[in-house]
Amino acid sequence: MAARWSYAGRWALVTGSSAGIGEAFARQLAAKGMNLVLTARREDRLRALGAELEHAHGVAVVPIACDLARPGEADRLWAGASEGRTIHLLVNNAGFGARGAFHEIPLARQVEMVQVNCTAVLELAHHALNAMREKGEGGIINVSSIAAFQPVASLSTYAASKAFVLSLSEAIWSEVRASGIRVIALCPGRTPTEFQAVAGTGSADSAFGVRSPDQVVAAALDALDSGRSYEVPGLENYLATWLVRVLPRSAVTRAAKRLVSRAAEKKS
Ligand SMILES: NC(=O)c1ccc[n+]([C@@H]2O[C@H](COP(=O)([O-])OP(=O)(O)OC[C@H]3O[C@@H](n4cnc5c(N)ncnc54)[C@H](OP(=O)(O)O)[C@@H]3O)[C@@H](O)[C@H]2O)c1
Repeated sequence: MAARWSYAGRWALVTGSSAGIGEAFARQLAAKGMNLVLTARREDRLRALGAELEHAHGVAVVPIACDLARPGEADRLWAGASEGRTIHLLVNNAGFGARGAFHEIPLARQVEMVQVNCTAVLELAHHALNAMREKGEGGIINVSSIAAFQPVASLSTYAASKAFVLSLSEAIWSEVRASGIRVIALCPGRTPTEFQAVAGTGSADSAFGVRSPDQVVAAALDALDSGRSYEVPGLENYLATWLVRVLPRSAVTRAAKRLVSRAAEKKS
């Protein structure tokens, strides 16, 4: 049984905290007394959220505007975030998807997606882990997806990017678990946020296994407390990730394609 995780008075770096799941992380961590470094491209939103959380919870909040699609930005972000403070929890949450046939989605957009969803996650986790190893404690939550468990036609690069995050996180979890450092892959199912409008995947409101950003974050923090390696919020979603392991891969791939097409037909 892992020792209980402690939040109050420590620092968390939350990427993609201007909206959706990242904003919910910021709110719940601040309510637990964590100081925050918030980052995303929309600095006005970070500043407004930071002022609200400082006022409501008496924590310190530092906003750092950053475009993680640009090579080298994750290094700059880590340097700014960790200057003069120990980052105890890294939430690698920033990410986006794009729906469409692989050959039709512009190549530059897909390379950008890999940069944000994979390369920046890897770079920040590497910086954080080395700093945490010096202290002998800390935690990393990498936001993956249930899309990580099987190929998803029309979301091919997105699903592949999340499979990268899941595999990377579980391997690191195994490498560092004895050292007291916690690493979790958070694998949400459909969660109503700005993700659907950005990716063009249709409304998530009435989808199978839908959970709110608050429910997703509560499940992640529960997993952090327990020292689990990955977390799939929602029983239906969890069972679906087991089902795909026993069904033939071709059948799973066809079913995933149908689910994405059906969801996209609904108006966002
Ligand atoms: N919503 C779902 O159904 C769902 C399901 C499974 C997994 N996820 C994952 O959950 C994570 C959060 O997504 P969400 O649902 O909360 O979506 P969201 O509401 O669109 O939020 C995405 C966040 O990422 C930031 N971001 C996007 N591109 C960025 C860039 N180039 N540089 C820096 N920040 C960037 C956005 O901030 P700015 O636009 O201000 O930069 C925003 O804060 C993502 O990794 C997503 O893949 C979502």
